[in-house]
This record gives sequence, C-alpha cells and structure tokens, in this order.
Amino acid sequence: MSAPSIRIETDRLVLREHEEGDESAMLPLLTDPVAMRYLPEIRAVDVDGVRDNLARAIAERSRGEDRERFFLKVETRAGCLGSAEYVGEIGFTVIASAPEGRLVNLGYFFLPRWWGQGLCSEATRALVDYGFEKLGIVKVETGCLAENRGSERVMEKAGFRKEGYFPLHVLHEGKLKDRVEYGLTREDWARSR
Ligand SMILES: CC(C)(COP(=O)(O)OP(=O)(O)OC[C@H]1O[C@@H](n2cnc3c(N)ncnc32)[C@H](O)[C@@H]1OP(=O)(O)O)[C@@H](O)C(=O)NCCC(=O)NCCS
Repeated sequence: MSAPSIRIETDRLVLREHEEGDESAMLPLLTDPVAMRYLPEIRAVDVDGVRDNLARAIAERSRGEDRERFFLKVETRAGCLGSAEYVGEIGFTVIASAPEGRLVNLGYFFLPRWWGQGLCSEATRALVDYGFEKLGIVKVETGCLAENRGSERVMEKAGFRKEGYFPLHVLHEGKLKDRVEYGLTREDWARSR
C-alpha cells in the first residue's frame, strides 16, 4: 500500500499530481457555479480559495502511507485533442484503511466545455484500474443526487453496482432530494476484466 507519485495515461487524457502554479488552471473550474453545483464544500469564491485547495492536494502527496486524498488533475494529451489543456479533477478520498487494504470514495468534476464526450468515464475507468492494481484498494464507493444523471451514468458505465437509493436524503438548494449510492469491490472489478 505505497503512495507513489501518480501519473496515468489513457487514450485521450493524462491524470497527474498537482503542482505549484496549478491554481490558474483550476480557478475557472472551482469557481464555476454549474460545475460546482453539487460540490459546495469544494467550490471556491476566489483564487485564495483555489490556492488553499491546491496546497492541501500538494501536501497530501508527502504523507506516504498515511495519504488520505488521491486527487489528480485531468488534462488532455497533447496531440490528441490539440495542445494539452486542463479538463478537471478526479480522485479518491480514503474512508477507512486496514492492513488488508483501503476503502475509498471516488469524486470527479470537469469543466462544462468538456462534458458529454466520454472523458469522465475514460478517466474513471483508468483511475479505478490504477487504484485496484497499485493502491491496495479493496472497494471504491461513490454516490450523487439522483437528479445528477450525468454523474450517475459515469458510475454505471464504469461498472459500479447500485447499492442504495435514499429518498429525500440530502438538503440541496433548499430542497430535500434523493441520493443514489454505488460501489465496486476489487472482486467485482477483477471478474469484469
Ligand atoms: C459528472 C461529470 C464529471 C461527467 O463528465 P462527462 O465527461 O460529461 O461524463 P461522460 O461523458 O463520461 O459520461 C456522461 C454520461 O452521462 C450522460 N448524461 C449527461 N447528462 C445527462 C442527463 N442530464 N440525463 C441523462 N444522461 C446524462 C451522457 O450522455 C453520458 O452517457 P452516455 O455516454 O451513455 O451518453 C460532469 O458532468 C461534471 O463535472 N458535473 C459536475 C460535477 C459533478 O456533478 N460531479 C459529481 C458530483 S457527485
């Protein structure tokens, strides 16, 4: 269960660790009211908020075995969709850890201009593969409001199993809304390969 510096390549994307100076790329995403509509706890109002977020991401890398957040920036591969461009963020947060492995939560948010091209599904599959192969993960769990069909569809396309439907479970924008929960165990992942 090591915590190496991570770099993952897919057909169209590169997922890699954050570095100093990334705040200018992240600012339009973390302050975008549409992209951050379902992530108010991460949404930033200005560049200082983005810097705080970036500093936390960079600090996590030095925690070695104790690392609790494996969030990566997603970029297009240079030469594939033009020059390399910032697409968004994807990663795991460790929920529980034992000698036998880690239980993690998956999260993702991309700039709206990149939505609807299968990019998040592509990134999710690659990150999940990496997590099971290299990070000692035993299960990935995730979830979203039922109305967030784009996010739920990513979970479905990446092979997650629907584990729960919770009516009127979340207070969002002043209304009680339904939530769906999904999960993927290492065994199910291995069987599907
Ligand atoms: C969730 C998100 C990352 C998906 O990114 P993406 O790159 O567009 O995802 P993909 O293209 O891989 O897949 C999206 C799927 O949802 C579908 N979809 C999108 N909006 C939909 C809607 N309103 N109703 C039904 N399906 C929808 C797409 O058609 C696609 O499915 P398909 O390939 O079968 O056609 C992006 O919408 C986003 O950043 N949303 C805001 C942040 C967010 O909500 N994060 C999750 C918080 S829980």
